[in-house]
Amino acid sequence: MIGANGAGKSTLLSLVTGLVPPSTGTVTVSGRAAALLDLGSGFHPDLTGRENIILNASLLGFSRKQAHDLYDSIVDFSELDDFIKEPLRTYSNGMMLRLAFSVAVNLDPEILIIDEVLAVGDQKFQAKCTEKIFEIRNQGKTILCVSHVSPTLRELCDRALWLDHGQLVMDGPIRDVIEAYEGRLTRQA
Ligand SMILES: Nc1ncnc2c1ncn2[C@@H]1O[C@H](COP(=O)(O)OP(=O)(O)O)[C@@H](O)[C@H]1O
Ligand SMILES: [Mg+2]
Repeated sequence: MIGANGAGKSTLLSLVTGLVPPSTGTVTVSGRAAALLDLGSGFHPDLTGRENIILNASLLGFSRKQAHDLYDSIVDFSELDDFIKEPLRTYSNGMMLRLAFSVAVNLDPEILIIDEVLAVGDQKFQAKCTEKIFEIRNQGKTILCVSHVSPTLRELCDRALWLDHGQLVMDGPIRDVIEAYEGRLTRQA
């Protein structure tokens, strides 16, 4: 999804994730979704990284044993070993992202939903996230993301939705939508 600030991109992701119900109409989601929306959403600030991981896995219905197996792969991916026993309120934005992204991708979602949060990661972690997202895509899973137009987005997505003031302006192949969107921006400038 692309569009200016306030276009309704995050609202649409919240609807798909089920965080908010639509006031009219229906949303149909086929598959288990993991979402990365606001940094820290779904986590408790007073619990440690470790406790938050186990809590998240349990809430998603994983058994104690499964949660502990997942725990190791989540911490490995996040590279947060030194901080995993500290409460989340002491984490920087980049560290929160590391935790949230690692949890979301390691819970093996069929649909991965990502809002504009990756930008707070350092360059090395961003590259690692991008690689992981492509891996998930290549497994045939669905990725629904909001992003600023970038070369990565063109490669990652087949289809784009352009939103403006809560309305759908265009739905089509990503190249066409980006071209139209950038054309509009240029004419406005
Ligand atoms: N909880 C809410 N209640 C009412 N209006 C909201 C709420 N959240 C966002 N909005 C409004 O909805 C519009 C779209 O917001 P949002 O989906 O966050 O935009 P985007 O993610 O595209 O920048 C904005 O005008 C915003 O002020
Ligand atoms: Mg937003």
